[in-house]
Amino acid sequence: MDSSPKKIDAKQADLNDPLRSFRERFALPDGVIYLDGNSLGALPKSVRQRVATTIDEEWGVQLIRSWNTADWVHLPQRVGAKIGRIIGAAEGTVVAADSTSINLFKVLSAALDLNPGRSKIISELDNFPTDLYIAEGVAKQINKGHRLVLADAPADIPAMLDDDVAVLMLTHVNYRNGYRHDMAALTKAAHEKGVLVIWDLAHTAGAMPVDLTGANADFAIGCGYKYLNGGPGAPAFLYVSPRHQGGFRQPLSGWFGHRAPFDFTPSYSPSNRIEQYLCGTPPVLAMVAMDEAMSLWDEVDMAALRAKSIALCDFFIQEVGTFADEFGLKLVTPRNPDLRGSQVSYSCENGYAIMQALIARGVIGDFRAPDIIRFGMTPLYLSFTEVGQAAGVLRDILATRAWDAPEYHVRGAVT
Ligand SMILES: Cc1ncc(COP(=O)(O)O)c(C=O)c1O
Repeated sequence: MDSSPKKIDAKQADLNDPLRSFRERFALPDGVIYLDGNSLGALPKSVRQRVATTIDEEWGVQLIRSWNTADWVHLPQRVGAKIGRIIGAAEGTVVAADSTSINLFKVLSAALDLNPGRSKIISELDNFPTDLYIAEGVAKQINKGHRLVLADAPADIPAMLDDDVAVLMLTHVNYRNGYRHDMAALTKAAHEKGVLVIWDLAHTAGAMPVDLTGANADFAIGCGYKYLNGGPGAPAFLYVSPRHQGGFRQPLSGWFGHRAPFDFTPSYSPSNRIEQYLCGTPPVLAMVAMDEAMSLWDEVDMAALRAKSIALCDFFIQEVGTFADEFGLKLVTPRNPDLRGSQVSYSCENGYAIMQALIARGVIGDFRAPDIIRFGMTPLYLSFTEVGQAAGVLRDILATRAWDAPEYHVRGAVT
């Protein structure tokens, strides 16, 4: 019996797509098939006008009054609440602030403080490097003998959780191969050993439904510029479970984390709410773009989003599967949708040059060293027809060896 997924008819799938009307809400250039929304989300059209209004009216005319009249001051909480709604986090548990790296510094420091007398931080070798670098930095900064211990593979993690582990720190969906951890099961296993858990949702938020409350997560962080479409360098977010708010400090004790910033007292008295995780003045223009991008999510049926994401990935895997072996492309993303996020990755020789040749033909994905070509599936603005076409262009580039032109071997600073 053939157990492979049913062949997808791209035209029919597009006609049946309940999310297809979202496409026109994004500014995407003609001639581009955008498979990199997992790295930088596309521009929601309404962001342009909203930022222009903020610049021309709120900044240009209202000037400093806008901190109150346009409520700039509460943008981190307002944006945080919108993000919270799609990651299963209650009001008052999420703020938008700083970058993912900085937010990890804050929550990891707090988690270690909450779990004293234990020395290990567990993560995995293939976690996104900034997470590992920040953990190294935090351990050094605290200077109490904490050490980072890395699993070689996801399957090794449960056995590594023992009485000396303070924190388990994982990225839910792996940035390179798209492998997805079982958040609820790992959080439960960690809690049974007294371990606190931090989830990096960089490749999860806006890519699929997630339930931080249901999973009983302790802390989470994530990017605003990927599937959430907040713009290049958009503010990141962080989640702190209500049971961990108050009673301890995160170390970046700036005035926005004070219980009454405008009392201007000389010593720091931390807010015992999520606001403690704010540090300084929010970047209003970037926050406003993020706020506008997030407003679209109120209309998104997250179950439909996930169903389409799975179908887009299946379709791409199916199409590329017809020629992958012939050209040495090895699928590194799990075929089982329960084990993956919303991207499809292949390892291959000359991956960098192949990706440059694809980009030159209008199919934009990206390359991750040492040998991974990555294709992000963003259900709000991608069609099945485009995904099928992208696979066709990839085949053509491989068959003609178009990637072997000298210009495609020249490395840019960003890959
Ligand atoms: C899993 C993960 N964490 C963190 C980051 C980046 O963090 P930052 O926005 O601080 O550069 C990325 C960026 O791609 C990522 O994939």
